[in-house]
Amino acid sequence: MTNVEQSQGASGADANRELWETHAGWWQEFFTDGADPEYEEQILPLIVDWTRGAERVCEVGCGEGQVSRQLHAAGAHVVVGVDPSAAQVTAAVERGGGPVYLRGAADRLPVADASMDAVVVCLVFEHLDDITEPVAEVVRVLRPGGRFVLLLNHPLLQTPDSGWVDDHIVDPPEQYWQVGNYLQPAAVVEEVSKGVFIRFVHRPLGTYLNTLAAAGLRFEKMAEPAPPPGFLAAAPEYPDAAHIPRLMALSWRGAFTAGLPIAGPCIAGPGVIACAP
Ligand SMILES: C[S@@+](CC[C@H](N)C(=O)[O-])C[C@H]1O[C@@H](n2cnc3c(N)ncnc32)[C@H](O)[C@@H]1O
Repeated sequence: MTNVEQSQGASGADANRELWETHAGWWQEFFTDGADPEYEEQILPLIVDWTRGAERVCEVGCGEGQVSRQLHAAGAHVVVGVDPSAAQVTAAVERGGGPVYLRGAADRLPVADASMDAVVVCLVFEHLDDITEPVAEVVRVLRPGGRFVLLLNHPLLQTPDSGWVDDHIVDPPEQYWQVGNYLQPAAVVEEVSKGVFIRFVHRPLGTYLNTLAAAGLRFEKMAEPAPPPGFLAAAPEYPDAAHIPRLMALSWRGAFTAGLPIAGPCIAGPGVIACAP
């Protein structure tokens, strides 16, 4: 990947939204509907496993809906996918499969308080400048004790300058994984494929964990899975790739707040989900 620009300041959120709008087709073609082994072999099964039993699930930053569709197929009765990109939400509605889709952003979810058994955020927070408000929104829409499943590009090992280094100066040659400037928060627009630009925001792992804990969420479990066979098969020149995780998955629980009712059935309307108390 090529870093083409350091993006800073107030325009970061707008740049992120515009880039996703422009390149939604790239995402849909290469990462959804069976095209990507990491999703098929690892991400989708993990999310289904970690949200098992949840009947009402909100997916924040749902893209064209592959995670939401999978959750619905696995038994969640009400699945609400939210994404700011019209191109993504339009594709999600066309692909159907049971979920309700709404246009909206992570920092202002069009979802009622305490209405969801689980919230899923998959590969979205690493595009946002500030996660404080999005995390507060997760806490707001979760029912007491509800589950929050967060998937990230591994914050320690997938930094802006990380990647394989083929060192031919030493004899015999060595390959090693360069971590990059881990402690340095950074917003970078990367050319992820020819002519396709996506904005990434790097923050150290501690920023994620401390933000989630400060919002009242309770840590449950974490996984750093080895890249799945389908991914490894595409890069046989790096045999040690099996030991460098690309993904971090975290499961958290919302607080059991005394006195708050568990929400009743949800009704999807235009632009809002209403849940009976
Ligand atoms: C890497 S894609 C992941 C899509 C989906 N979660 C999946 O795993 O298939 C990132 C998504 O985040 C969305 N996104 C970007 N900014 C967002 C924001 N502020 N709030 C919610 N979603 C956002 C993009 O439109 C895009 O669909």
